[in-house]
Amino acid sequence: MFNLILFGPPGSGKGTQSDLLVSKYGLVHLSTGNLLRSEIADKTPLGIEAKNFMDKGQLVPDEVVIGMIDNCLELHKDAGGFLFDGFPRTANQAKALDKLLELKRTAIHSVLALEVTEEELVKRLLERGKTSGRSDDTNEAVIRNRFAVYQNETAPVAEHYKAQHKFKAIPGEGTVADISAALGEQIDKVLERQRKEQEAFE
Ligand code: AP5
Repeated sequence: MFNLILFGPPGSGKGTQSDLLVSKYGLVHLSTGNLLRSEIADKTPLGIEAKNFMDKGQLVPDEVVIGMIDNCLELHKDAGGFLFDGFPRTANQAKALDKLLELKRTAIHSVLALEVTEEELVKRLLERGKTSGRSDDTNEAVIRNRFAVYQNETAPVAEHYKAQHKFKAIPGEGTVADISAALGEQIDKVLERQRKEQEAFE
């Protein structure tokens, strides 16, 4: 099994790159943002509660997103691996994910972090907001709040994975193809290391 986290601030390209990586590596894409937006579209109680936080650029409570991820892992028991996009976003979520994966006798193998400047993020999200219909993309103050929340609550999660020697930063500005190639290069290295470890074990 191969489990990857695509890490990075709002607008850094996690969703764009996830779409390319899941087909290349045969992973199941788990985006908590997409899952929450689908709950909002279905007007479920969870979606109605989550919308209040998302519209302000705040994080949805940990127990809500951890529960969603738990359900998805159960739903895809036979997956060859997962790509987590936008999760974990807090230290509690990272610890919960470790526990959930341990129960399934697996773990996170790599965390790749897309690095993009705040000004480029704001520019990308305001541009997307013209057509995306995402209420959190249209107001610059909300976009900047999402970035501040990322800096305060999510960026520190990197330390959890640095301590496990699983974290690698990747420049997130440039063409989508070049960034995808850089991510692929790093993933191939980790897969090769995994293969060698498996061979040595057998
Ligand atoms: P979520 O949906 O996860 O949004 P996000 O992290 O803010 O990320 P985005 O989808 O905006 O950006 P992205 O990094 O995926 O970039 P993308 O590829 O789309 O979360 C939304 C909200 O849900 C949160 O604020 C929170 O309230 C809640 N939430 C979600 N998960 C949660 C969790 N775990 N815990 C608590 N709350 C949670 O690209 C962005 C734009 O840039 C696109 O228009 C794209 O075309 C463009 N672009 C991409 N790559 C490039 C490039 N190389 N050059 C130029 N433009 C590019």
